[in-house]
Amino acid sequence: MKILFICLGNICRSPMAETIMNKLLEERGLSKQFVIDSAGLEAYHEGERADSRMRAHAIRHGYNITHISRPMRKEDWDEWDMIVCMDAQNRRALSNRAPSAEHFQKVTLATNYCDKHCLADCVPDPYYGGEEGFEYVIDLLEDACNGLIDYIQKGDS
Ligand code: 4NP
Repeated sequence: MKILFICLGNICRSPMAETIMNKLLEERGLSKQFVIDSAGLEAYHEGERADSRMRAHAIRHGYNITHISRPMRKEDWDEWDMIVCMDAQNRRALSNRAPSAEHFQKVTLATNYCDKHCLADCVPDPYYGGEEGFEYVIDLLEDACNGLIDYIQKGDS
């Protein structure tokens, strides 16, 4: 299963999702069955490491974000089985860019898989906000990634 996480800049939410997903898969002994990556809808931060605030919060929770920001490419639409985005704005942009309706069927929202945060409808952009926004991103994405793995595992059995 190949999963691509998408956000706007690929320096906060989607690299955090990629890192959390890889750690949870490793803990569950499932790493070999998955390929995980992340990309941005925009190329503003191409070639940069994740936002230093996101990396600092990640480290406190035991995560080391090593991803280098890259924009989503046309080839990604064929390469990935699931394209998991963060908010309705991401979803709209993906719907405009999808080469076909079948390709857009690969797109889902991360919060669809939340259990603890079952009322959350997006992973809010923390870029212009305070420290608590980064903590909330981690909390939501841990919940979402656990739920996503459960969802895929159920489909496999
Ligand atoms: P992300 O956050 O989409 O979670 O990576 C953002 C990062 C950068 C910008 C916006 C959102 N920006 O406007 O540069």
